[in-house]
Amino acid sequence: LESIFDLNPEERDYFGEFIRSEGIPVHAGNTVPDLRKAQVSDWKRVGGRGAYIRLVGDATVNAAYLCQIPPSGELNVEKDISDKIVLVLEGSGSTQMWYNESKKYRIEWDKYSLFKLPPNARYQHRSNSANSSALLVTITSLPLLMNVIGHHDMVFSDSTIPQFWKEKLEGGRYVVDAGSLSKAPGTALWQGFAISNAKTFSNLDPTSTRGAENKSVHFDTGPGLTAHISEFPVGKYKKAHRHGPGAHVVVLSGEGYTLIWRKPKERIKIDWKEGSVFVPPSRWFHQHFNTGSVPARYLAVHSPVEHMLEAETFENHSLDQIEYNQEDPEIRSIYESELSKRNLKSRMDKSLYAQK
Ligand SMILES: [Fe+2]
Repeated sequence: LESIFDLNPEERDYFGEFIRSEGIPVHAGNTVPDLRKAQVSDWKRVGGRGAYIRLVGDATVNAAYLCQIPPSGELNVEKDISDKIVLVLEGSGSTQMWYNESKKYRIEWDKYSLFKLPPNARYQHRSNSANSSALLVTITSLPLLMNVIGHHDMVFSDSTIPQFWKEKLEGGRYVVDAGSLSKAPGTALWQGFAISNAKTFSNLDPTSTRGAENKSVHFDTGPGLTAHISEFPVGKYKKAHRHGPGAHVVVLSGEGYTLIWRKPKERIKIDWKEGSVFVPPSRWFHQHFNTGSVPARYLAVHSPVEHMLEAETFENHSLDQIEYNQEDPEIRSIYESELSKRNLKSRMDKSLYAQK
């Protein structure tokens, strides 16, 4: 099967793709030393001249852009769904904003004026100085929105139908179990829209970085929410880790428990079995334990990886994952006592606790 998507998921940075298509400078790095001196160039879509600012700390949540308005000039009418806060760096002028042509609001601004642009309102900036240009810096939530929605057409237009999905649905490409399987580093990756049975789906691959004999498959279902299935054997448990909010864990088979904690020693135990659901709170450690007599399998549905604030996306895993040999010995003894209540024994190999 040909791949359903045009982009490698690891490159699926819709905002990055978008700003590269705009043809204006992108100032990257740790800082822009002086916004008033940053290079700008002609900006066809917006009018005037502009530049994007994408600094290393933005974590694809917010970004900034500069707009330079020529003396006594105006920019194009614009509209998008993001929130925007504007700071005037140079010049003076006015901005009209409206949802309804017959109710246009207008504000006047001057150097260091600060104002908000409401989401999905049309707006137009004007400079009122005949001698000098105006310079605005806008901070926008566009990266987060664009990377979650993944559809430029929904972000900028009045249409709420993303062309991407329209083509898939109407072009007969939305077919159950018709996906393509590839091996991403450390895991299997399935690209498709629907599978007939998550409980019996067999395309899992070893993901030992997450725990002893853990197997998983990640789903790439297009822009937006994503999911993975994880399975780990009888008598074993996964490594503790933590990430951002919203991951819904639905147990498909087996039984066990999950410890969740924000502070060491303040653990909460969540027992689970087939049909259970729980959501590890944002940035809380959580660790899954199999206490049943069959492999435990769960489905986790979560935000795109770049918004999961996961250790996996950074170099230093140790901040967000606790290796077996680093964990509190209590973790192991709790597990062994939980198993003994059920006349089961841990199958965790001793070497797991010794290895560096
Ligand atoms: Fe997790």
